[in-house]
Parts: sequence; C-alpha cells; structure tokens
Amino acid sequence: MAYPDTRMRRMRRDDFSRRLMREHTLTVDDLVYPVFVHEPAGRAEVPSMPGIERLSIDALLRVAEQASELRVPALALFPVTAPEAKSLTAEAAWADDGLAQRAIRALKQRFPQLGVITDVALDPYTSHGQDGLLDDGGYVLNDATVEALVKQALSHAEAGADVVAPSDMMDGRIGAIRAALEDAGQLHTRIMAYSAKYASAYYGPFRDAVGSAGALGKADKKTYQMDPGNSDEALREVGLDLDEGADMVMVKPGLPYLDIVRRVKDAFGAPTFVYQVSGEYAMLKAAAANGWLDERACAMEALLSMKRAGADGVLTYFALDAARWLREA
Ligand code: PBG
Repeated sequence: MAYPDTRMRRMRRDDFSRRLMREHTLTVDDLVYPVFVHEPAGRAEVPSMPGIERLSIDALLRVAEQASELRVPALALFPVTAPEAKSLTAEAAWADDGLAQRAIRALKQRFPQLGVITDVALDPYTSHGQDGLLDDGGYVLNDATVEALVKQALSHAEAGADVVAPSDMMDGRIGAIRAALEDAGQLHTRIMAYSAKYASAYYGPFRDAVGSAGALGKADKKTYQMDPGNSDEALREVGLDLDEGADMVMVKPGLPYLDIVRRVKDAFGAPTFVYQVSGEYAMLKAAAANGWLDERACAMEALLSMKRAGADGVLTYFALDAARWLREA
C-alpha cells in the first residue's frame, strides 16, 4: 500500500506509538565496564580519556560497588604494569601475586555476583608493548606466545576470573586455553574471544592508560590484528574461535565496524559483543567538552546502534553513565 494509505509518520507521531514499535533497546544488562587498575595508592586521571581513572585495588572496589548498585553485569579488568615489572618475556602476566590476580581475588571476595572479565594478552607486561613474545627480527611469535597466554589465562581462572578474554589475536589460542582450563578442572570459566580485532588507530587513549604507548613507540600490530579493509576474514576468525571453544565472540572497535557485527551475528547466532574502544570514547568526550555534541544523547545513540547491529552487549567506558541515564529515562 502506498501513500496516502501508508503514512509512515502516523506511528512516529506520539511517544507511546514510537515506544511500542521500537525494535531495539539498550538496557543495563547490555553493559560491561572496562576498568584500569594500578599499583600506586589512589586514583590517577587518564588525560586522553576524561572521566576515566587508573585505580588502586581499594579504589577499584569502590567503583565495583557503584557498578553493583547500578546492576552493571560485569567489569573488564586491565592492569597497568609498572615499568620495572615489564620484561621481554612478560612473566609478570601469570604471577600468582600479580596486580591482575590480586584485583580479581579482591573483586570476587567483595562482590561475588559481579562478573569479572580479564584481558589475556601480554602487552601490559612486555617491555616492547607488543601482545606477544618476539623473535630476533621483532616478529611476534605465535606458538610461544600462546604458551604464555595459556599460563596467564589459567592464573586468572585460578584467582577467580569468571571470563577470560584473549585480546591478542594469536592463532590457536582459544583452543589451547580451553584445553588447559578443562585439564585444570576450570569447567565454568567462560572465554570471550576478541575474534575480530582490527589493527585500529582508535586504541591510542587505551595505550596511554595502560602505559604501553611509550613502549610500543612507532611500531604497530598489523602482523596479528586484522586489516580494516577486511570483512570475510572476520567471519573466518569468529568461526575458528567458536570451533575452538569460545563462549562469546567480540568485534572491536565498535562504531566503525558495525557491518562486521551484523555479519557475525547473522552467520553464527552466537553471543556477540562489541567494544566501543577508547578512541570512540575520547572523540565523544572531546566534542562534548567543546559544546559541539550532546554527550549523553550521542553516547546513548552509539550504544543503541551497536545493539541494532546485532550485539548482545557492549564493552564501554560509558557503562556507569549509561546505567544512570537509563535509570533517569
Ligand atoms: C591489548 C588491548 C587493547 C585494547 C584492549 N586490549 C589495545 C591494543 O590492542 O593495542 C584496546 C581497548 C581500547 O582502546 O579501549 N591487548
């Protein structure tokens, strides 16, 4: 039926009918809050991420309390390693008394119902800032790195992590981690695979936050993270990770890659997550600070667009704000 029998604007006329026909919504259940934990006492601002701080474990517990009160389902934990704890071989990544491991234990003891997702990758621990171990020519070794990642993931699971999230993009790491978890009797540890992680320039503020930017220098991660020009390759990555035992898959970054989210959701129907990364957050914050964009409206629109693209959940630095905004709405 054509105009005038069909008038698309009829349903848009009033709030009640707009609400009734809304196809996608954002709820607090969709949010994961990434947090940075550091060794020093107290909090330290991250200049390129206004509103985000590096937190001591004590300060982290106070943030976890807010997240729990707001009913945000989970935190994603990112440790900031002191320069003297970094090395070529990244042993600090699986130290039983490491910062990540202590933070996991503290969180699970105080807030057992709050999900704890840990980052499995070596970049916070390597003196060169790459996510893996290097050969003499500076190439990131795959299989040796996977062995290290397995140790790291096991130490997180043993400390009580609910979800380990390998963000390194090595081949075969999901299968190796899943096998090691099963062998260790860690049957319930979920794996959230950063399956389609692109070699993106939008990670800059994150690298400032964890202090890997200086170590990395002018180097890039293009030999393991994906080429932004590719889309079919993302489906192959997701397929492999699901076959190897991933419970959830992720696309990262978010807004520039929503076509990938849609393809992944359509092709696999698996729990699919998207990471609204540090650079996406920084852009919105900077525009809002200049009075050029409405922060709340634009952040909520971006998060909703991720749901519409097919994501089941979003890792976002806006998680606590979004949870508050949803309450007020
Ligand atoms: C490192 C890691 C990165 C992010 C999450 N885990 C950065 C990178 O790959 O260099 C980026 C998150 C963000 O930008 O918010 N394994």
